[in-house]
Amino acid sequence: MRALSSIVAIAAAVATVADGFTPNKPSYIDRYPGAKPFDQSFLEGYSILKHLGGQGPYSNRRSYGIGRDPPDGCAVDQVIMLRRHGERYPEPAVAAVFNDVLAKVYASNLTNGGAFGGSLEFLNRWETFMPNEGYWALESYSGPYAGLLEAYGHGVEYRIRYGHLWDQEPGVMVPMFTSSYERIVQTARKFGEGFFGWNYTTSVALNVLSEDETMGANSLTPACVHDDDYEMCKSLPGYMPQFDVAVDRLKTQNPGLDINATDVFNLMKMVAYELNVRGHSDWIDAFSLDEWTAFGYTQNLDFYYCAGPGDKNMAAVGAVYANATLLLLNQGPEKAGKMFWNFAHDTNITPILSALGLFVPSSHLPLDRIPFPNPYEIGDIMPMGGRLVMERLSCNSTAVTPQDTYVRLVLNEAVVPFPDCQEGPGFSCSLANYTRLLEEKLPDYTTTCGIPEESPQYLKFFWEANTTQEWNWDPKVIPYQWSFIL
Ligand SMILES: *[C@@H]1O[C@H](CO)[C@@H](O)[C@H](O)[C@H]1NC(C)=O
Ligand SMILES: *[C@@H]1O[C@H](CO)[C@@H](O)[C@H](O)[C@H]1NC(C)=O
Ligand SMILES: *[C@@H]1O[C@H](CO)[C@@H](O)[C@H](O)[C@H]1NC(C)=O
Ligand SMILES: *[C@@H]1O[C@H](CO)[C@@H](O)[C@H](O)[C@H]1NC(C)=O
Ligand SMILES: *[C@@H]1O[C@H](CO)[C@@H](O)[C@H](O)[C@H]1NC(C)=O
Ligand SMILES: *[C@@H]1O[C@H](CO)[C@@H](O)[C@H](O)[C@H]1NC(C)=O
Ligand SMILES: *[C@@H]1O[C@H](CO)[C@@H](O)[C@H](O)[C@H]1NC(C)=O
Repeated sequence: MRALSSIVAIAAAVATVADGFTPNKPSYIDRYPGAKPFDQSFLEGYSILKHLGGQGPYSNRRSYGIGRDPPDGCAVDQVIMLRRHGERYPEPAVAAVFNDVLAKVYASNLTNGGAFGGSLEFLNRWETFMPNEGYWALESYSGPYAGLLEAYGHGVEYRIRYGHLWDQEPGVMVPMFTSSYERIVQTARKFGEGFFGWNYTTSVALNVLSEDETMGANSLTPACVHDDDYEMCKSLPGYMPQFDVAVDRLKTQNPGLDINATDVFNLMKMVAYELNVRGHSDWIDAFSLDEWTAFGYTQNLDFYYCAGPGDKNMAAVGAVYANATLLLLNQGPEKAGKMFWNFAHDTNITPILSALGLFVPSSHLPLDRIPFPNPYEIGDIMPMGGRLVMERLSCNSTAVTPQDTYVRLVLNEAVVPFPDCQEGPGFSCSLANYTRLLEEKLPDYTTTCGIPEESPQYLKFFWEANTTQEWNWDPKVIPYQWSFIL
């Protein structure tokens, strides 16, 4: 009895101490006794999600450590987002390549009685994640990284973050803008349902903009009709020496295996989609970390030379949106509106970053080696679900900055300061300086890209929004491998 009562007394004393207020103690210390308050491993640097280029599940950008919330004394008074569709199935042409490579691998005359071995042992049981061709090109709906789920969750998260910007006036329509590809429209709808909840049915007017190049500059997907700097993009090899190392290893483990470096490249690409659909992939461990680093670099090259600063005309393409949003920011929330939720493709967003002067290396990405650190990591710039957010901040004065309006860019939930302008609170740029910098540097889209006079020369749709709800839902059955709805 005495023993028990003294145990109870000790427990009570411990509980008293534990209940006491401990300043600055992370909350998870209570949930995981013995957990380190600061993780020492930084394993995230090796996350597979960072080596899949723009094809794999969404992940936040690795941050510089700048706070995501508005800086002290600042409030977001206007937000402008452009995001990509969510995780998806491969395009039909890409899915066909995956199926060809798989057929080739399965048809190998393996000396080991036809069974796969080594790191391909799982292939004796593996089944495809693409049994139904109808879904190709569409958002994924299954697994932890389902594109439809991610878009809905994103809307819910942003309601918490930016909900104060919705005035909630019954009968007043909030326009949302999307380009006309089925998976993008679907992403916009899911985001809208997440953000507005039940009120999606009464307060949102989804504006669908054709992706056709005759839209000229009045588009979320402007094209560079006459791009005279596209050669490098077309000639990228999609090859790294590390793929041959993988070929050698897999053939040693599986004598008779029919596989080459191109097949390895395609199988690694397939992993991204298996994650989008299934959430895990046995193929990941068939390749080494170094091979994944090499694969990731092929994807960086692709975006850099095809839709980034490696094509000298891409900044002009991105200038369309950079210029239009500059006007929205200067008109401000009262005149222009408080929230702009826009949806388009990956290759429509990377040119905007170039126009804004972000991730523009001082020399071109090399083809013969991988630069470390890498100035253009597409896994951090534009994974599936990637989003570029412009926040207009209304700030009180601080010890070093005046009361003013500032602008901050948040890419995949990480604050990205402008290289030439970061003197504001939270490393933001004053709206006045941002405006001056962009007016100095934005190239002209219509002359650079040869836009015909009969096509719209400026982006106008933000100021001509529709209030019809006819596109808020699918008007009919969604067809097989559906693409353009307009
Ligand atoms: C700015 O200062 C005013 C006056 O002190 C205060 O009411 C307001 O909440 C401040 N704004 C922010 C965003 O902190
Ligand atoms: C496997 O063997 C069959 C029968 O000998 C042959 O037709 C086929 O071409 C071989 N495949 C490969 C990949 O060598
Ligand atoms: C949102 O929906 C609820 C339920 O229908 C309704 O009571 C409320 O007025 C709506 N809010 C707005 C801003 O339309
Ligand atoms: C605007 O509304 C009209 C009439 O309903 C419709 O035909 C048109 O497609 C809509 N435009 C956009 C951009 O949603
Ligand atoms: C690998 O094989 C495919 C045919 O299965 C072929 O198209 C491709 O060019 C080959 N790649 C290399 C590097 O030989
Ligand atoms: C704006 O630019 C001026 C002149 O370059 C500079 O002195 C000032 O610090 C900048 N302000 C901010 C907030 O970036
Ligand atoms: C930006 O748009 C305005 C009209 O809103 C136009 O006058 C100006 O020339 C545009 N600048 C560029 C670089 O496109």
